[in-house]
Amino acid sequence: MDIMQVLCTRRTFRAFTQEPVPGEVLTDILEAGRLANCGANRQSLRFVVAEKPEDVARLCELTKWAAAIPDGAGTPAPEQRPTLFIVVLQDISVPGHSDIDVGIAVASMTTAAWARGVGSCIIGTLPRDRTAQFLKLPENLQVHTGIAFGYPAHKSTVVPLKDGQKKYWRDEKGDYYVPKYAISDIVRYL
Ligand SMILES: Cc1cc2nc3c(=O)[nH]c(=O)nc-3n(C[C@H](O)[C@H](O)[C@H](O)COP(=O)(O)O)c2cc1C
Repeated sequence: MDIMQVLCTRRTFRAFTQEPVPGEVLTDILEAGRLANCGANRQSLRFVVAEKPEDVARLCELTKWAAAIPDGAGTPAPEQRPTLFIVVLQDISVPGHSDIDVGIAVASMTTAAWARGVGSCIIGTLPRDRTAQFLKLPENLQVHTGIAFGYPAHKSTVVPLKDGQKKYWRDEKGDYYVPKYAISDIVRYL
């Protein structure tokens, strides 16, 4: 895939095959996070990698999956859980730590993964305190965002956004459909 294909097809996946993410792909993901641009080169981000099924399972339980899908049907079944989970932390003792730095790192990491065929779901719903307790974090490290990774076990397709309806949906096979605006809806040229 060229870079535009990677960027345009990098959808969210919430069910995965159980093939592990290879070590070299994990290294690429972490390099993408380590080298991401950050304000003032402050490098306030830290990363916890979970690969053991019991640790991934616990992080999955702490996550709220697919708010738009009724009856918890977007929650991965145990046999379709991610095989890798990374928690992105902010070192809050670093002055000026910023949400934008996290966003850039997370986008780079998920893009690096997808360039190697590894899908992901960015997780903003990890409860900060309970996750910190589970990870046994020191005071200066704050849970910010999780990322679930694995080889996708479903498809996800972008569809035109109609009548302001932004809610994504899932069909009976578990494939997702994600409405997106057209360029003409969101861009104005001076
Ligand atoms: C900051 C952020 C937080 C998110 N948090 C969650 C989450 O907690 N649980 C979940 O299932 N999906 C989560 N998602 C995935 C979004 O629901 C998904 O990106 C959105 O529906 C658009 O789908 P797409 O990524 O395929 O374009 C999150 C995505 C982002 C960018």
